[in-house]
Amino acid sequence: MHWLFVTLRPTVNHVVITPQRNIVTRTWGSSVGRKAIVAVTGAIFLLYVVAHMLGNLKIFFGIEAFDAYSQHLREIGEAVFGYEGVLWIARVVLLSALVLHVAASFSLWRRARRARPVRYQHRQALEGSYAARTMRWGGVIIGLFVIYHVLDLTTGTLNPLPGESSAYTKLVASFDRWYVALFYILAVVALGFHIRHGLWSAIQTLGGNSALRQNALKGLALAVAVVITVGFAIVPLSVMFGLVR
Ligand code: HEM
Repeated sequence: MHWLFVTLRPTVNHVVITPQRNIVTRTWGSSVGRKAIVAVTGAIFLLYVVAHMLGNLKIFFGIEAFDAYSQHLREIGEAVFGYEGVLWIARVVLLSALVLHVAASFSLWRRARRARPVRYQHRQALEGSYAARTMRWGGVIIGLFVIYHVLDLTTGTLNPLPGESSAYTKLVASFDRWYVALFYILAVVALGFHIRHGLWSAIQTLGGNSALRQNALKGLALAVAVVITVGFAIVPLSVMFGLVR
């Protein structure tokens, strides 16, 4: 069959013409390109997650501070983009990044699986497959969590205080149920594992991993993950233990 495609390829004076590929097909078409897509979209999430975690800590400044912050998110750039305009731009960017992140990771995973039909034998490779499994399942847990989370605290659909209650009262009402607080804590622990491994792989992909700096960079990825996990988990924990009412 191969000879058929060879003879059908377009030629000029017997020189084979390779069709021009634009930057999108070139990036998606190579595994390095898809790894870069995962890394860049991952960096967008990391920035969002850090900003969100810092914003959440406003809960310790009281109800007025937290609700004012929630209101402020809707009013940023109002003069140019209208009420909630910037928020909607951020939502579209995050959702597009999510689609690309999942599609590129999934396609890389499928490619690796096709290339390796026989299971790993030695230790280092086993560790690699453990990390990949943790990333896959961690990603699924985080995805399900975000869906629940938006229905809980943004739309209020699954919140005990739906309707027009403030961001602060919705948050406290939600975490007053210990099993919901626990679910949030488990989700942010899964997020921590995902960030630690994701950051570490991204550093390796970008070539910043000389043998000398390897341990320092691994430590940095772990530190970022721990700070983010603790920074998020402290909010449901504080409601559970009555420090935030
Ligand atoms: C204990 C941890 C968390 C708390 C207490 C929390 C709190 C909140 C609150 C109060 C809102 C509503 C803000 C408002 O409408 O003014 C919100 C929205 C949101 N959070 Fe979280 N969050 C947590 C973890 C996370 C994590 C880990 C992620 C992502 C991985 C995340 C992603 C989002 C998203 C996407 C929205 C919707 C933004 C929008 O469309 O308006 N949150 N969060």
